[in-house]
Amino acid sequence: IPRFAVIGHPVAHSLSPRIHAAFGRQLGIALEYHAIDAAPEQFDALLAEFAAEGGVGANITLPHKARAAAICTHLSERAQRAGAANTLIRSATGWEGDNTDGVGLVRDLTDRHGLDLRERRTLLIGAGGAARGVAPALLDAGIGELYIVNRTPERADALADALGQPGRVHPRYLKDLVALGTFDLIVNATSAARESALPSLPMSLANPRCAAVDLSYGEASIAFLAWARAAGAHDRIDGLGMLVEQAAESFQRWHRVRPETDPVYAALRERDD
Ligand code: ATR
Repeated sequence: IPRFAVIGHPVAHSLSPRIHAAFGRQLGIALEYHAIDAAPEQFDALLAEFAAEGGVGANITLPHKARAAAICTHLSERAQRAGAANTLIRSATGWEGDNTDGVGLVRDLTDRHGLDLRERRTLLIGAGGAARGVAPALLDAGIGELYIVNRTPERADALADALGQPGRVHPRYLKDLVALGTFDLIVNATSAARESALPSLPMSLANPRCAAVDLSYGEASIAFLAWARAAGAHDRIDGLGMLVEQAAESFQRWHRVRPETDPVYAALRERDD
């Protein structure tokens, strides 16, 4: 039975083992998939141990995605652009890294939620690994101008530079948000889960067409989505669908077959409510 794992810290509450087990059952593919908790200083050693024990694929989650990309012997173009890997594939020479977060988000927004992303004037809040993972895919999906704000402005500048589209991508200061007008798409990619830590966002940011998206789910998405409701955003979407879609992309890389995501998403959503 091929062995897979998700490696993160913390990782106990990760839904990935459940999702991959469900995909395997759906397609009649036997697999073993467990969670490995690795503090940052343990990551390299635990990944090597997993490989030595026959691990053939891994999902990488917080806070290891950048480190994972750094130790891969080969990276897909989208993992290179993100500077982060969430999916590792064992090859003869080492680990190959891919990043399925961005395409997972776009698939959730367009296929599941029926949003047309084209020409949407977009605000991205955050400039860490999660933001880097999704920004290229949003640009590729045809959004309009992209504004990036972050608590640490230098990181917003660095992300905007790395995206390489200066006419379309604009880093801005959080304190200048109110002057930026309204947005059709607002993506919260910060890890600032608690309400006290959410950057203060003017209600005027969301226009009546606006889709507000939090990349996290459960507790961690409540504060931002409550803000989005109060601000009158038309759609309010958490990261559960993205999680299932990025998992399906990873599954396809490993098993060469694409699982159906809707039943797995529905089961997780039911458990969540
Ligand atoms: P991730 O991989 O989840 O993006 P990260 O690289 O540590 O993790 O980035 C976390 C993001 O959440 C960053 O944009 C961070 O802002 P800084 O770059 O200024 O650190 C943001 N963030 C975390 N805690 C925050 C808080 N209390 N208030 C505002 N932003 C916060």
